[in-house]
Amino acid sequence: MTRDSRMKNILVTGGAGFIGSNFVRLALSRLPDCRLINLDKLTYAGNPGNLVDIQDDPRYRFVQGDICDAALVAELFADEQIDTVVHFAAESHVDRSIDGPAEFIQTNIVGTFTLLEAARQAWLVNAAVAGDKRFLHVSTDEVYGSLGETGMFTETTRYDPRSPYSASKASSDHLVSAYFHTYGLPTVITNCSNNYGPYHFPEKLIPLIINNALNGKDLPVYGDGKNVRDWLYVVDHCTAILTVLHQGGVGETYNVGGNNEKQNIEIVQTVCDILDQKVGPLPSGEPRRSLIRFVKDRPGHDRRYAIDAGKIAAELGWKPSVTFAEGIVKTIEWYLANPDWVAAVVDGSYQEYYRQMYAGR
Ligand code: NAD
Ligand code: DAU
Repeated sequence: MTRDSRMKNILVTGGAGFIGSNFVRLALSRLPDCRLINLDKLTYAGNPGNLVDIQDDPRYRFVQGDICDAALVAELFADEQIDTVVHFAAESHVDRSIDGPAEFIQTNIVGTFTLLEAARQAWLVNAAVAGDKRFLHVSTDEVYGSLGETGMFTETTRYDPRSPYSASKASSDHLVSAYFHTYGLPTVITNCSNNYGPYHFPEKLIPLIINNALNGKDLPVYGDGKNVRDWLYVVDHCTAILTVLHQGGVGETYNVGGNNEKQNIEIVQTVCDILDQKVGPLPSGEPRRSLIRFVKDRPGHDRRYAIDAGKIAAELGWKPSVTFAEGIVKTIEWYLANPDWVAAVVDGSYQEYYRQMYAGR
């Protein structure tokens, strides 16, 4: 039995970010009868420009606000009769969490608690909203820590977070789980591997390398470049989330991944080679691989991630549709086709533009 017919008013948090904006676009196209409210603080990572193509859809409402603002969140639950939450909002960059963990504790832990408490009040204490509800918490494989040469993360792997970011996400997962066990809040958690694709903020490895390589800048590779990440095309992550919303079991956790393990150095070399093919070598005539620089390692750098996505495949029938070879070409083509988006994000001008647009709303 699926939830389609009962999912009416969806609160998406962090929908102006990378994965959230891809999700909002996909959900509006796949769920014609749903209303979607996007609550986003518009931090440096939030960009309503990611959603210009759907911003006038009558089923869509954007609210600039903080998930830690309990009064605002409670008001949204009541006014919009929210029956489904898809919680993306977070501070998401590991390097930033090392430089300044406080925002990660606030948004990722206190923010998640604020949303859970609002859902509990609206759905269980006041029971003001009829029908089936779901609180889907979007989390990460980083909560499981670091793997050696072999093995994969399953849903029963012991949590072992090692950065302030992953510790804050692990904490939020535990809160979600506690709200299910203690109060019976209808929660579900997804733990996904590294995403890549359109609208990825160019502080993260793949978009940073694409942008630097295009502009003839150094390509920083941490440590020996042999750390392994397991890559998933972002739209496949979004279809997994829709699948879990429809069919996922209450209180369950699902690992999501694309079975695409790559060393960082392979990723960087692949991006260089595809760009050389598409736009030619550097003006000096050298290949873009000549820009690679091995730099000081990230403190506590997790060595390897690998997701076993067998449960979501076997129980819910989800599997990724885009191979890494296809996805990386699609991604590079998107960045080549959207230089204005990249320029505005890199120079920060998108923030001022939207600050003025939303001032006083
Ligand atoms: P992102 O940094 O691109 O976007 C985060 C969004 O949250 C931004 O729009 C930002 O403005 C918003 N936000 C931040 N703090 C907020 C607050 N206090 N109130 C309201 N909005 C706030 O992140 P992303 O890469 O799209 O990741 C989204 C979610 O998916 C995160 O929870 C992350 O942990 C998880 N995740 C990411 C990946 C990945 O590879 N990017 C993989 C697995 C899980
Ligand atoms: O695994 C899921 C996680 O993937 C998400 O939970 C995070 O939100 C997301 O940011 C991502 O975390 P990573 O730390 O794996 O992603 P990042 O793109 O920052 O780095 C990928 C790998 O590349 C990592 O091993 C560090 C390395 N790296 C990164 C940057 C930015 C470099 O070698 N050079 C770089 O300049």
